Amino acid sequence: MPDQTKPGPGSSWLEEGHRHIWMPYTQMQTAPAPLPVTATQGTRITLADGRELIDGVASWWSACHGYNHPHIRDAVERQIKQMPHVMLAGLANEPAFTLASRLAALAPGSLAQGKLERVFFSESGSVSVEIAMKMAAQYWLNKGQAARTKFICFDNAYHGDSIATMAAGDPEDGIHGRFSGLMPGQPRIGLPRDEESKARFEAFIAEHALDCAAVILEPLVQGAGGMIFHDADTLKAVRETCDEHGLLLILDEIMTGLGRLGSMFACEQAGIAPDIMTLSKSLTGGTMPLAATIASGQVFDAFLGDDLDLALMHGPTFTGNALACAAANASLDLFESEPRLNQVAAIEKHLRPALEPCRGVEGRWGKVCDVRVKGAIGVVEMQRIDDMNALRARFVEEGCWIRPFGNIVYLMPAFTIGEDDLSKLTETIVNVIGEA
Ligand SMILES: Cc1ncc(COP(=O)(O)O)c(C=O)c1O
Repeated sequence: MPDQTKPGPGSSWLEEGHRHIWMPYTQMQTAPAPLPVTATQGTRITLADGRELIDGVASWWSACHGYNHPHIRDAVERQIKQMPHVMLAGLANEPAFTLASRLAALAPGSLAQGKLERVFFSESGSVSVEIAMKMAAQYWLNKGQAARTKFICFDNAYHGDSIATMAAGDPEDGIHGRFSGLMPGQPRIGLPRDEESKARFEAFIAEHALDCAAVILEPLVQGAGGMIFHDADTLKAVRETCDEHGLLLILDEIMTGLGRLGSMFACEQAGIAPDIMTLSKSLTGGTMPLAATIASGQVFDAFLGDDLDLALMHGPTFTGNALACAAANASLDLFESEPRLNQVAAIEKHLRPALEPCRGVEGRWGKVCDVRVKGAIGVVEMQRIDDMNALRARFVEEGCWIRPFGNIVYLMPAFTIGEDDLSKLTETIVNVIGEA
């Protein structure tokens, strides 16, 4: 029997599987073969040939406690022995119910603002956003306003890869432009960043409000659309305009939520709360697929009544999966018992000066047009990156897993990353981007 844990020359799973697997966001004809990984620990990825990479992106920003944290591993081991999964309709499992209570206690909002208090579980970020959109549309349907089926979206937004979430993203600048014929068109506008754009935004909302169920936004950082930042005033202005026009506000905190920007939720920095919020990625510390759509009591109340038609008609097979919820409860324990938000503040303090030498640099990989940092996100924006595969390979050569996309080189490490590893990542970016 070949040793299936150690791919390499002569091993079967890598070569065999590579003939059959369809990799994400990958041109399968030209992309270099993926690097076989045999283990992950902390902020290190071990490759089959024995090399270790320092991980700068925490598996698409999910592994916030580092890989293989013993507290999450133990919780998952206990749960898998007892009960990995049981359907949620009509049956209750303790990890899912406990997690719902904990998320409701943690979620932003006050009674006056509308407290987020009802949690619907699914298994991926995109699905949780679809559910948020469906909830918002059905909220109005239940209130007898069936025409409110659209969603006000923003330039550079990204909310997922499914059809409704692609439609809520930016079809021009985003990665889904080619699908515009497939997607329901949504009213889209630039963020209200200054007086002029605020006036434009308010006029736009006034024009579209009666056709729309909600405004949908990634608070403070638009991620996959280019790691574009906005400030708390913009977020506050969006909330106020929604209130003036009776629109629901959906905040997609899949990337920003659970500490990434130095507060548990990005919207707390603006002192506002949405009507519906989505979470995923760090929810299980990057160990299991799980997402949550959390609604205010006021949204939830619109689904109550004698008629089944009023109920939320949604139920993914694995909603409330006990194993994933056990991992998420353990992940929340770590937010309580370990100093995650302080760690994010320390990462931010490190990233600011450490990436600054990239500013204005023009070298082999192109010209840097901006350097920016928010929380545990460090961004070096290039005018463009011509040879993406070569740049990615160059970082691997240096012992770092840094995976630029579009025109962005960025770091979003685990919050637990040590000073030495973080220095190695930032020094590598500065050195590689500076290459003549
Ligand atoms: C803000 C935001 N929303 C939604 C998603 C989609 O999540 P998933 O990839 O789990 O479907 C992502 C993923 O990157 C995201 O960053």
